[in-house]
Amino acid sequence: MIKLQVNGQERSFDGDPGMPLLWFLRDELGLTGTKFGCGIAQCGACTIHVDGEATRACQTAVSEAAGKQVVTIEGLHPQGDHPVQKAWRAQNVAQCGYCQTGQIMQAAALLKQTPNPTDDDIDNLMAGNICRCGTYTRIRAAIKQAAKEA
Ligand code: FES
Ligand code: FES
Repeated sequence: MIKLQVNGQERSFDGDPGMPLLWFLRDELGLTGTKFGCGIAQCGACTIHVDGEATRACQTAVSEAAGKQVVTIEGLHPQGDHPVQKAWRAQNVAQCGYCQTGQIMQAAALLKQTPNPTDDDIDNLMAGNICRCGTYTRIRAAIKQAAKEA
């Protein structure tokens, strides 16, 4: 039996410990805000936080999260008002939206580690999050806005 915390709640899983954490979150817990994109850690759509670190849920086994704190987009802020979420709305970042929860989770982790990121910091730390709609300019603006307001 694997036990872990998801968005502050104790959860357990007694299935295949090698199953991707993404399936556990989406299919077992119904937390569908975290998206499946590539499945091979190349797009960032499935980004969550595990013990505060941005983590690709598609390439993380449930067993790797045992005893850890997992946070998904649903748990980032109870009202959706994390500084990154507020900045995202103010900058109208999203287009189709598919990549955006992963972008927001990556950006929130980035700002925790680098509270005043330069353009290069943002480019480096967001490089693994792909947006097929090309919202990169607004993502950068929103991260800078969130850094000022955090
Ligand atoms: S679905 Fe996990 S990185 Fe693409
Ligand atoms: S907003 Fe469409 S993929 Fe990023």
